[in-house]
Amino acid sequence: MIKINEEQKIFDLSGKDFNYILAVNQFGYLENLYFGKKIEYTGFIKNFTEARGHGVCVSGERNRHADASQFMLEYSSVGAGDFRIPSIIVNQKSGARTCDLKYSSYKIVEKRFSSPLPKCRGGETLVISLTDESAGVTVDLYYTIYDDISAIVRSVNVKNMSNDEIYLDKAYSFNIDLPYDDYRITGLFGAHLKERSVESEKIMRGTHTLSSLRGVSSAQINPFIAVSDSYATENIGRVYGFNLIYSGNFELNVSLDEIDHLRINGGIASEDFGWFLKSGEEFETPECVIAYSDKGFNGMSAAFHDLYREHLINEKFVYASRPIVINNWEATYFNFDENKLKSIIDSVKGTGIDTFVLDDGWFGKRNDDTTSLGDWFANKEKLPDGLKSVSDYCHKNGLKFGLWFEPEMVSPESELYKHHPTWVVKIDGRSPCLGRDQLVLDLTNEKVVDFIVETISSHIENDGLDYIKWDMNRSITDQYSSTLLKENQKEFNHRYVLGLYSALKRITEKYPSVLIEGCASGGCRFDAGILAYCPQIWTSDNSDAYSRTRIQYGTSYCYPPSAMSCHVSVCPNHQTGRVTPFESRIAIASLGAFGFELDSTKLSDDERSAVKAACSSYRQDEVLLLGGDLIRLKSPFKDGYFAEMLVSKDKRRAKLTVMPPNSFGNDKFYFVRLYGLNENAMYRLNGQSVASGSALVHRGYYLPRVSGDYNTIVVYLEQTD
Ligand code: GLA
Repeated sequence: MIKINEEQKIFDLSGKDFNYILAVNQFGYLENLYFGKKIEYTGFIKNFTEARGHGVCVSGERNRHADASQFMLEYSSVGAGDFRIPSIIVNQKSGARTCDLKYSSYKIVEKRFSSPLPKCRGGETLVISLTDESAGVTVDLYYTIYDDISAIVRSVNVKNMSNDEIYLDKAYSFNIDLPYDDYRITGLFGAHLKERSVESEKIMRGTHTLSSLRGVSSAQINPFIAVSDSYATENIGRVYGFNLIYSGNFELNVSLDEIDHLRINGGIASEDFGWFLKSGEEFETPECVIAYSDKGFNGMSAAFHDLYREHLINEKFVYASRPIVINNWEATYFNFDENKLKSIIDSVKGTGIDTFVLDDGWFGKRNDDTTSLGDWFANKEKLPDGLKSVSDYCHKNGLKFGLWFEPEMVSPESELYKHHPTWVVKIDGRSPCLGRDQLVLDLTNEKVVDFIVETISSHIENDGLDYIKWDMNRSITDQYSSTLLKENQKEFNHRYVLGLYSALKRITEKYPSVLIEGCASGGCRFDAGILAYCPQIWTSDNSDAYSRTRIQYGTSYCYPPSAMSCHVSVCPNHQTGRVTPFESRIAIASLGAFGFELDSTKLSDDERSAVKAACSSYRQDEVLLLGGDLIRLKSPFKDGYFAEMLVSKDKRRAKLTVMPPNSFGNDKFYFVRLYGLNENAMYRLNGQSVASGSALVHRGYYLPRVSGDYNTIVVYLEQTD
């Protein structure tokens, strides 16, 4: 709900569990007066500004002063008395960069969805305009809130109101200044095969920046940061979570100053960024979601999950039953032919697996990763009858057909590169860096985007694709486009991401029933921007169940379980060499969009029966996965083992999955408190014993002792009445 006090210029935005209160101070600056648990604010504002008035704003008559560093600003600029990290830098015709943004107006609007930049749907949107007439710029701050979700969505539109060009060195999505209160920061860090590990640090004075300059949101640092009470756990404490809906270079800063004001701001990385705005032109930033929880990190995640499911992910897919995939990558790598693929398809008939995905190696002359990206026509040696023959075989056998592409890439050894050498990201006179022996296509060039859309469209239409795995296997270097003018080159990184979104938007709008799964060397571009177009993303190339407990745990901080594509693979695991029980691989993979990544022709009878049983129980539990709450109970990072529970929204059903610690002999008894259950209800566990919700929450569930390592315990809880 948005409440506005016109006279005092107070804006009170309330979401499910919070108020976000803004006010224009006597100097015309928009300040954040409060962001936190719901409060009654009558009288509070006055009290607050009076108390603080001793330190700042000594004279209401001065209209310029150098005290803006003490204001709790909602957007920040340079040269006007705020010496903290700015949110925007505007180069004006004279070369001046000072910009003093003061409140000018507000309005309630319907959000526009014309650009391909992903945005959250629905809610109520308030726009507050800040202006600096001398700099010729107006900054519209967008705030979208939802009555039933504990998150606020922010973004910014910068308008050039002058008659001259202006040049932005930086244009963040948001800025917020909060009073510091013994907080910590938490982020998701990693690398290929170990994406999104949860790490947490004390906040030091100065600035801590989380950023990616790889052209993708990256496995190294996810575009997420949380600021929380230092004592916060999964279930208690205040947590403010920030997640950018963006897939390219980003930065998120947390700065603590000398008067204990904490500034959090961020958006598109300002490093290697610039943007020209002609007179009258606008620049739209990506959205940033700010989640609030006073019930620990689980509460924060619930806010992100609910928002993304209800308002970001494609409505057609988000709550729909997901394909259960068999993917041939780890089964064959590049070494397959039509007969091998057909034998895989034959071998899964009757198991419940319903989609066959043909991975890398089906096109051009591709027998390893050094060639043919861009030549998206069937490899005649492997598939003499073309893709259609495989697709028809799937359909005839009741399976859907999915196909792997890496649309943003080109191999130097390819027909595409030969015919379109200028379509590549490179600089004349300099040999470009290769990554996995491949070059990046220039998605800032509309012709390249058209080529991608046309190529994929023709495969959808001619080969009957039901599903696409959209991969992206290298970071971007040599940032330069031959189609951009010299002065626009710093727009490259963002224009690349816009090109990507544009291709995805066009394809998803044209073929609404084709599900596109995102992928980037596993989970190297796992972010909310991709989620807007791809309801699920391959979480990691590491399919080892033990490693996956960490990866999926961290990923769930922002992204709902149904967004994580998770497959069962063989042992010894191809990435770690670890051997884990088949049941554990199934239990952990079925905590996401489920599938298999193995040679199903080699399954033993027992394993085949286990696959069948797994598909059937996955379907029974799928409603929990798609729409329930995920409650993290034991952290592989902090507690040394993994326990999570999926709970239906009405709390009548739940599924607990635990991978207990490895055995040392004569172990202690482990128990898990089942937060998230209804404390006033009785539950039947695995169809047998009955326990009260309150006992399960407060006394906890004792884990049975299991022999051997990497086992899993799965417990179904059903309310009895
Ligand atoms: C990436 C993906 C894998 C697989 C290979 C194919 O690494 O993450 O799942 O598709 O590419 O080359």
